[in-house]
Amino acid sequence: METERERVLILDFGGQYDQLIARRVRELGVYCEILPWQTPFREIEAFRPGGIIFTGGPGSVYEPGAPDTDPAVFGLGVPILGICYGCQLLAARLGGKVIPAGADAAREYGRTETAFSTENPLFRGLPGKSVTWMSHGDFISRLPEGFRDIANSEGCPTAAICDGERRFYGVQFHPEVRHTEYGREILRNFLYAVCGFHGTWTMENYRTQAVRELREKIGEERVLLALSGGVDSSVCAALLAEAVGEQLTCVFVDHGLLRKGEGDEVEAAFAHRGARLIRVNAGERFRKKLAGIRNPEEKRKRIGEEFIRVFEEESRKLGRMDYLAQGTIYSDVIESGLGSAAVIKSHHNVGGLPDTVDFREILEPLRLLFKDEVRQLGRELGLPEGLVSRQPFPGPGLAIRIIGAVTKEKLAALREADAIFREELEAAGLGERTAQYFAVLTDLRSVGVMGDGRSYDRAVALRAVETEDFMTADWAKLPYALLDRVSRRIVGEVPGVNRVLYDVTSKPPATVEYE
Ligand code: XMP
Repeated sequence: METERERVLILDFGGQYDQLIARRVRELGVYCEILPWQTPFREIEAFRPGGIIFTGGPGSVYEPGAPDTDPAVFGLGVPILGICYGCQLLAARLGGKVIPAGADAAREYGRTETAFSTENPLFRGLPGKSVTWMSHGDFISRLPEGFRDIANSEGCPTAAICDGERRFYGVQFHPEVRHTEYGREILRNFLYAVCGFHGTWTMENYRTQAVRELREKIGEERVLLALSGGVDSSVCAALLAEAVGEQLTCVFVDHGLLRKGEGDEVEAAFAHRGARLIRVNAGERFRKKLAGIRNPEEKRKRIGEEFIRVFEEESRKLGRMDYLAQGTIYSDVIESGLGSAAVIKSHHNVGGLPDTVDFREILEPLRLLFKDEVRQLGRELGLPEGLVSRQPFPGPGLAIRIIGAVTKEKLAALREADAIFREELEAAGLGERTAQYFAVLTDLRSVGVMGDGRSYDRAVALRAVETEDFMTADWAKLPYALLDRVSRRIVGEVPGVNRVLYDVTSKPPATVEYE
């Protein structure tokens, strides 16, 4: 893991696309981390960046108290790329002028035709004109000394700026957003042509280094991990199993709210990995706790609490463990308030952390990885593709996909309906491009006719969404033929269901889950 030299620091000025910038940089094979704009200079220096990216942000650089950075950053001698607000900050702090759009230039929002100086290293290999994604109300009206403009649009003469000598670049548009046609190429040029990186960040390298570091840290001691069967905890378990084998014990609390076949699949994936796996079949316990509970928040709360109880009981039986391992990933770290972007949603992962069980330290070996990197690491570690590419599944499981009280019969019906939907959607080759798809058992009962008889049964809702980040999502435009097949099979094969509905609501205004 050549992260010693090839490291990009992303200074977060509160833009909504900041995580996307980091993901793009990592996809291009370069390690990066996001730090808030308030980070003191000594920490920025200590990070030893080989390049710095200033993100966008909602502020205006000329307003008092606007997000800023220590001017010493400009003296580090490393390339800087400013994006949107970051570009304006670069210009303003180095002696240029930023003013509200109006007199000389227009505000720009959305897809914008932009002309590039393609002899500039940042735009090498690009066509002379292409579409960029703009979103700005201010613009640079005077360039700082040493800078020139290297791109323009109809509304903005300074769509991109550069000081080649100092290797400072700024773009008024957002190269990290897919609507910018050549955004990926621009970021690649910054990393490879300007910063001179080679792209050494791979999950193969990460695996080698992480295993070595975990072995050094853990030594002869014992590690406990709560395995949920989700991608993150599974990859975390596989990594630790490779590093310390028998010193790792995984406790898999099967709360009886998993999808069809899931519990056995998780168990099978870890059977031969050297680590000890304890599967606790606690379905009955959880069902009792959920009996008669209709309120979604109450369901979540009870499941979270019961999970901790079961986990604590098991870990007490095992005697004192030195480390507790968790599959926390980078987006969890960022979303719990690292940056200054608004916190959109706080999830409780399966169970949360038991605080009455006593551990010396918590290990989070995936803390700096994005989801797609975690999946790639899982593949490196030889986990089955079905487990690695698993779609997100909420900790409270099927309980929040049954509207109203949870019963054994409803769980069985939902499990079947959900398995049929997933099977058919995957058989139609749509699994990869549909971010999440599942069935929900509604509490709607309606009249139907089956054979010669009247039925009064439940309705299943099908939910399928396309999204990159789950903060917003579009309902998936699934083919009618597929929906038809799924509907016929569910009504034909699942007792107690006589109607199938397809959810055509996006997020917002709806959420992905129903509860
Ligand atoms: P919503 O319903 O908020 O879901 O649009 C967004 C994404 O988060 C997942 N989700 C959860 N994941 N614990 C989790 O680990 C939870 O309590 C939880 N609630 C929702 C949901 O499946 C979707 O991918």
